[in-house]
Amino acid sequence: MGVSIYQSTKFFRALFSLTTFFFLFVGHALAQDGGVTRHYKFDIKLQNVTRLCHTKSMVTVNGQFPGPTIMAREGDRLLIKVVNHVQNNISIHWHGIRQLQSGWADGPAYITQCPIQTGQSYVYNFTIVGQRGTLFWHAHISWLRATLYGPIIILPKPGVPYPFAKPYKEVPIIFGEWFNADPEAVISQALQTGGGPNISDAYTINGLTGPLYNCSAKDTFKLKVKSEKNYLLRIINAALNDELFFSIANHTLTIVDVDTIYVKPFDTDTLLITPGQTTNVLLKTKLHFPNASFFMAARPYATGQGTFDNSTVTAILEYKSPKQSPKNLPFFKPNLPSLNDTSFATNYTKRLKSLASVQYPANVPKNVDKHFFFTVGLGTNPCDQNQTCQGPNGTKFSASISNVSFAMPTTALLQAHFVGQSNGVYSPNFPFSPAHWFNYTGNPPNNTMVGNGTKVLVLPFNTSVELVMQDTSILGVESHPLHLHGFNFFVVGQGFGNYDPKTNPKNFNLVDPVERNTVGVPSGGWVAIRFLADNPGVWFMHCHLEVHTSWGLKMAWLVLDGKLLNQKLPPPPADLPKC
Ligand code: C2O
Repeated sequence: MGVSIYQSTKFFRALFSLTTFFFLFVGHALAQDGGVTRHYKFDIKLQNVTRLCHTKSMVTVNGQFPGPTIMAREGDRLLIKVVNHVQNNISIHWHGIRQLQSGWADGPAYITQCPIQTGQSYVYNFTIVGQRGTLFWHAHISWLRATLYGPIIILPKPGVPYPFAKPYKEVPIIFGEWFNADPEAVISQALQTGGGPNISDAYTINGLTGPLYNCSAKDTFKLKVKSEKNYLLRIINAALNDELFFSIANHTLTIVDVDTIYVKPFDTDTLLITPGQTTNVLLKTKLHFPNASFFMAARPYATGQGTFDNSTVTAILEYKSPKQSPKNLPFFKPNLPSLNDTSFATNYTKRLKSLASVQYPANVPKNVDKHFFFTVGLGTNPCDQNQTCQGPNGTKFSASISNVSFAMPTTALLQAHFVGQSNGVYSPNFPFSPAHWFNYTGNPPNNTMVGNGTKVLVLPFNTSVELVMQDTSILGVESHPLHLHGFNFFVVGQGFGNYDPKTNPKNFNLVDPVERNTVGVPSGGWVAIRFLADNPGVWFMHCHLEVHTSWGLKMAWLVLDGKLLNQKLPPPPADLPKC
């Protein structure tokens, strides 16, 4: 059957940096027509890393930061052995992978699996079906993804070209957030006091903080390019808590793919990317050596009322000189939108449309079986007795979907479901719509307290779902990047203010809406998505701002088995971790 390859990540990284990996893939393509099996090993271990003149011991994969790149082709099977050598519980999520009938490999701790305990290991086993583009993997427990993340690159099947000019080179650009402190201490302190967590000290591009921060110039990512070439930048936002604007001075970006779905190409100077999203862009370099260097810069788009890291991270785009490398070239800096530029955000996201070609159709569900309406936003929990809390008016910050703040179970939901023992683990009664109507984006109600519970929403196999997510003004309106595991969805509509079920659906785009796995619910607005529940399992849905997830802005869908054998969730693998 399939060819099996062991990919030492070091070897593979070397290949990748030389960008000769295409040859490797072509070689296998000739061997058979199905996909190949690719083996990776992730050793979770501590590593000393220094940024901003601050050295800390942090949790890494194989001692690398960012972690290793997973490379595969559409149709390949991945076997990734994760071995936990640290004191923390670990779980890894393959963000955006559909996980068709492989829900046991999805990774969110206490949702699809118990975490991997110290000294234990687990092999994530899944096949990439119908996807090509860029994704990323990250830890999915507490805030460990601050240091445990890396790119997933999915090339098209052998011999299948991109629906755009063949790039001369491909370069991953992965954004992260650097904390001088231990991120685990940051969130545990915040949850204890009830206040907002401390903000990060810097953003990173490919793990590097760049010349605008103190003691940081030596940690700068440089992209060396030739003139008159097409580069494919695979941009990933792995930051914990911040949506980011990104731009390259004096260059235009052509957006070609988001979240592994080709889009109708369009040009822009600046893009916006939320945590959990990916964007592939073509960068056409200048015709002649420009006698200058250019900053690539990212800084946040922030709409909430809390404090946030408002710093700017930069990397450098440098042209290879035709002659000797000239010294002291001038630098150009890009102009980024202001930090709360919601009109930029709206105009940009409205330009994203599925390619919707014969080869890459947009299979938007035309008929809807079930309509759901969820509110998303912040709220409060009461302070424990004998404690003083640092949240709003002496309460504890919380967050919810439809006023249900998700309480993490102590065993995995998918296991409880599979063995038919959900009692005491979860209840199948997540509300179809909020229990009480209020003017969601008007004056907030006096009572901001949330309810708490582990509720799931049960869907029969192949239910066609329309979900409207409505931001609320409780503790301030804010853009929330909502991520759904196990599916891509179509973004059929969005707007500001309260969603109107009578008028708004008339303007839904059912022809070429963008298809993705993470969408920003507009600040003070709503977004409507559609998806087909064709994948049995338990699928987490949450805000990808990690602080909001920690506060409870999360829920889970339980998609039941279908009648046919290939519509059922297979039994768990033997090495599935125990709680
Ligand atoms: Cu990228 Cu549930 O996460």
